[in-house]
Amino acid sequence: MTDFPSFPPGFVFGAATASYQIEGAVQEDGRGASIWDTYSHTPGLVANGDTGDVACDHYHRYPQDVTLLRELGVDSYRFSIAWPRIVPDGAGPVNPKGLDFYSRLVDELLAAGIEPAATLYHWDLPQALEDGGGWRVRDTAERFGEYAAVVAEHLGDRVPRWITLNEPWCSAFLGYSVGRHAPGAREGRGALAAAHHLLAGHGLAVRALRAAGVREVGITLNLDHNLPATDSPADRAAVTRADTQHNLVWTEPILAGRYPDTEEETWGELITGQDFRRDGDLELISQPLDFLGVNYYRPIVVADAPYRESDPARRVATDNRYEEVRLPGVRHTAMGWPVAPGTFTDLLVGLHERYGDALPPLHITENGSAEDDWVSPDGAVHDSDRVAYLRDHLTALRAAMDAGVDVRGYYVWSLLDNFEWAFGYGKRFGIVRVDYGTQERTPKDSYRWYRALIAAQQR
Ligand code: FCB
Repeated sequence: MTDFPSFPPGFVFGAATASYQIEGAVQEDGRGASIWDTYSHTPGLVANGDTGDVACDHYHRYPQDVTLLRELGVDSYRFSIAWPRIVPDGAGPVNPKGLDFYSRLVDELLAAGIEPAATLYHWDLPQALEDGGGWRVRDTAERFGEYAAVVAEHLGDRVPRWITLNEPWCSAFLGYSVGRHAPGAREGRGALAAAHHLLAGHGLAVRALRAAGVREVGITLNLDHNLPATDSPADRAAVTRADTQHNLVWTEPILAGRYPDTEEETWGELITGQDFRRDGDLELISQPLDFLGVNYYRPIVVADAPYRESDPARRVATDNRYEEVRLPGVRHTAMGWPVAPGTFTDLLVGLHERYGDALPPLHITENGSAEDDWVSPDGAVHDSDRVAYLRDHLTALRAAMDAGVDVRGYYVWSLLDNFEWAFGYGKRFGIVRVDYGTQERTPKDSYRWYRALIAAQQR
């Protein structure tokens, strides 16, 4: 094979997962309940009634999963730490058995020659904190800083790369206004308060990680490339609002130390009348980072939509004032997401142009596709659509690097098929198939392709 995109020596190749999506063992070794336990156990919220109770049973099978990573040849593995395993009640006593699990996982990775990259928050908020207001309240950000300090103290010397939050957009907006993620709230102001407290929590966690002297600190954002459905002024205005809500609400405070100047036209009195920002917050939020994590899957095509004054949740949520539409003429994945790799290049180049020297080096912390793949009679999984997706997105990434964007690593989502949130187990993103009946792991063609791509690089 000669058609692999090539990357500079030292470029990090990785694979990613998240705690609630793979671990299972939700009641083991003192783990407390998280908002995703509550959400998935509420009838009607997750497809097929699926929950993360067992998931990929990674909690017990992690040695086997580390072997899969080693044989894949990745440099780094991105996993997340379940806050309710460490601080079961969200505040108060620390659970040593929870820390032990991640300590064993980290040692297993290091012994396999793989660098751990840990995410502190991939959406499994302790339920006890949600009961006290969740991300709507400042207290949750303070507790997050404390949890970060505990984890950094125990694992900081062995984990070189730290990610504070994964995709705070999903936590704030899917969680508190669209209601399609835990805790399933549909609020206007609550979602904007959640966005701010997530940013403050990020800042407090950065402080804690720095105090522990860890090597690299960053945050992972799911930045979106928003395209107007038509050239009409209404659709272009909808793109401005979408850019504000998806991107600028995070990148402006984190990278430029200011709030977006388009927030008023996006949210009106919901944002101008807010009282959750404090003096000093922008300094806290904009502390320098060693890298910015970017997750990218697909562009969003935005069209203006009627705005219902009477429903602030819908005003804040993505499903009001603009509507997502499909992109004509391209393949859509099993998620219904358009495959348009050129938009990945455009997003990264645009980010670089907007922030210039204020943009830290990037890591692509997730990229991949859900496909309706199956086990063939020959026992293999011939997921050629996923192979094409990965090849084309890595090629698009390389193009962004050639255009001057400083990208240091790429993590495929995901190592394993897993619990895809509100979609349950029906959507498969893995490069390794998981049979949920037997927990058997079957590397797919995409796993072999990624292994060959890594092996073909000049290291
Ligand atoms: C991202 C999430 C990740 C996974 C992928 C498909 O938004 O971070 O957990 O669900 O999407």
